Amino acid sequence: MTQTQHRSHWTSRWTFILATAGSAIGLGNIWKFPYMTGVNGGSAFVLVFIACIAVVGLPLMMCEIMLGRRAQRNPVDGMAALAKEAGAPMLWRWVGIMGLIAGLLILAFYSVIAGWVLDYVVRAASGAFKGIDGAMAQNQFNAFLAAPLELGLWHSLFIVMTMSVVARGVNSGLEKANNILMPALFAILLVLLGYSLAEGDVARSADFMFTPDFSKVTPVVVLSALGHAFFSLSLGMGAVMVYGSYLQRHVSIARTSLFVALADTAIGLLVGLAIFSLVFANGLEPAAGPGLIFQTLPIAFGKMPGGAFIGTLFFLLVAFAAWTSAISLVEPAISWLTENTRLTRKGAALLIGLTDWLLGIAVLLSFNVWKDVHLLFGLGIFDTLDKLTTNILLPLGGLLMALFAGWVMKTHHVQDELNVSAWPYRLWRFTIRFVSPLAIIAIFLYLFGLVK
Ligand code: PFF
Repeated sequence: MTQTQHRSHWTSRWTFILATAGSAIGLGNIWKFPYMTGVNGGSAFVLVFIACIAVVGLPLMMCEIMLGRRAQRNPVDGMAALAKEAGAPMLWRWVGIMGLIAGLLILAFYSVIAGWVLDYVVRAASGAFKGIDGAMAQNQFNAFLAAPLELGLWHSLFIVMTMSVVARGVNSGLEKANNILMPALFAILLVLLGYSLAEGDVARSADFMFTPDFSKVTPVVVLSALGHAFFSLSLGMGAVMVYGSYLQRHVSIARTSLFVALADTAIGLLVGLAIFSLVFANGLEPAAGPGLIFQTLPIAFGKMPGGAFIGTLFFLLVAFAAWTSAISLVEPAISWLTENTRLTRKGAALLIGLTDWLLGIAVLLSFNVWKDVHLLFGLGIFDTLDKLTTNILLPLGGLLMALFAGWVMKTHHVQDELNVSAWPYRLWRFTIRFVSPLAIIAIFLYLFGLVK
């Protein structure tokens, strides 16, 4: 397919891999995965999550990159162009529109949590965790959540950080940030892993995460694991699609997807292993929920020698990871705005930044003054946005993309773009036509109580 206008492209295959890994590796791996594992019974969640990545996540990542690269446009116009090419209704552009909205909704809460992380970088560095016990850590965290102004300042800073990268464009913004932040992230991760392997209770942690206990696998665990597979790989909302649209023709989609999926999963598992070994070594509670890294880890950092340094490194790692993911959350909307309006990238970044800043204010108020405001399913604002995007919008977007690539697009177009040999292609095609859609639909049916 030809492109309508000049588009930027990643300078090399590696920059694409780094950027896509940067999008995938984020709060999802370091903040969410460990606490969801803790809440959902440890190994039960981990094993179902790995299965979801293999059966649904990896094939869909290939699918989404393929759609983006073939379309060479933002996700909304891209889906429209691909639909036109296949002789299908323009309605498919709604997959792009839905994704664009999902990205804005996710950033609204993502930025608030990233704000917590920034605050905790400073806290850790200033020695605020020295000698604290469980009650003190909890009080510290609760007092912070009760202070909208502080939350607001950190959230604002994170939005400014994100938008200032996005405003600079694909090569001098996105690419540069990922080229610096991702290697830094890997380096910090190695130090932390080394430390927790030496000091933590790795055996118990590994037992908690990997010894299978199928009695704990419930429909809710399966739904949460599937939703998290989408969230963690950044799938179903066009972020990977728009990154794919900046990818040069000669790069292998299959190999890059495999690499990113493996890196993302491995980092989630390693961080989980490190965190739980500190949790168990210090006699703490693994099922602490969203506060796990904020309430539980500081106790461990407060006790260990050099804890201020290790704690600062840890929260810096989380901040870097969140930053490189956040820029991908808004890229679909930014690319759509710049390709359809007269706004420059700077103008688009300002507009989206303001929108997300406002949405984020509502989210952070839901931890204090708006605690009792309930939206969908009787959930508060933060939980509503989290569940609506992670468990519904992302899997739904992924389902539609799979159906589009598997059933609507012309086979030779897909094959041409993916450019893999016969049997891997057949396996991928079978998965994307039957296995992934049926898995997502089955889980949705459970969710809506249609199948008991
Ligand atoms: N994958 C990111 C994480 O694990 O934190 C979150 C995310 C980024 C989700 C981009 C969706 C997305 F499009």
